[in-house]
Amino acid sequence: MSVVSSNYRVSPELAQKLGKVAVLLGGNSAEREVSLNSGSAVLNALLNAGVDAQAIDIKGNPLDCIKRVEFDRAFIALHGRGGEDGTIQGLLECLNKPYTGSGIMASALAMDKLRTKQLWQGVGLPTPPFVSLDGAGVETHYFESIAERLGLPLSVKPAREGSSIGIKKATSVDELVQAYNEAAEFDAQVLIEKWVEGPEFTVAVLDGKALPVIGLSTDHVFYDYDAKYLADDTHYYLPSGLDADKEQEISKLSELACESVGCKGWARVDVMQDDAGEFWLLEVNTAPGMTDHSLVPMAAKHAGITFEELVVRILEDTLKTPNESSSL
Ligand SMILES: Nc1ncnc2c1ncn2[C@@H]1O[C@H](COP(=O)(O)OP(=O)(O)O)[C@@H](O)[C@H]1O
Ligand SMILES: [Mg+2]
Repeated sequence: MSVVSSNYRVSPELAQKLGKVAVLLGGNSAEREVSLNSGSAVLNALLNAGVDAQAIDIKGNPLDCIKRVEFDRAFIALHGRGGEDGTIQGLLECLNKPYTGSGIMASALAMDKLRTKQLWQGVGLPTPPFVSLDGAGVETHYFESIAERLGLPLSVKPAREGSSIGIKKATSVDELVQAYNEAAEFDAQVLIEKWVEGPEFTVAVLDGKALPVIGLSTDHVFYDYDAKYLADDTHYYLPSGLDADKEQEISKLSELACESVGCKGWARVDVMQDDAGEFWLLEVNTAPGMTDHSLVPMAAKHAGITFEELVVRILEDTLKTPNESSSL
């Protein structure tokens, strides 16, 4: 899908209310390249829509980068640690600058797949059974008992990464040990969870309401980094292929998944479906991709919302709701 530019322009009144917008992009995480693409697509859309916007590349010390530019509000197009985990949100709170998306708490929580899953379990939302290892005293026999307890295959992932970085499917105990060691290079906290064969779905949630569900399929073992950003043989299904009841069920589940974490503005929930038709929540992204391959713009387009309108709607939210600290 390409991001189609529309003739959508904001009214002069809205442009004035929005003031100077800083699009925060780049960042220092493993997802820097993806964020540069997301951010430039967002910046172009804002400029096309008649919003006074400029980019700030967050490279190195975020405070130094932000202080160089004068702005009234921020569109956060950063992904991963430092940008999607409450850090930049905290900095913007301190500077009293409104920003898009979730506040400090929900951003930090959603970045941590382990804590998110614990919370979902606590409120009775379905997420694949798992164990987490934090590197302390991990011994080989643990992996045997984990494989026995959860069953193979297993998904192994760093607790706080994105874009499928560091994720492996393990089909034997040997692969599990190797996958654990690889994931541990990205994060000391590693999550080992039951593999759910799929199909896979992703649900964008805008202002608390699910957009049309997207079904995904790939010839890769799973939806890995290449399948996400490089391959042209990844298939996206819109409509999702689910019947109306199931589409409604997964939409509601995704809305609850966001609400329970405390997300604000926009987010995207990744969900697997098992052989019995049951849905299992994998994670929620609080600053999802906005590249021309990205899923939220794809879902929005299906709902009749152009890329420009989507970007402005996400930004407009900063006018009506106070930042986290001011709402406490
Ligand atoms: N438990 C699982 N069962 C099956 N596939 C999984 C599982 N966990 C992750 N995956 C695959 O890995 C991809 C990335 O995992 P996800 O938890 O969404 O992390 P990321 O933050 O990297 O996107 C998913 O989109 C899915 O294809
Ligand atoms: Mg994901």
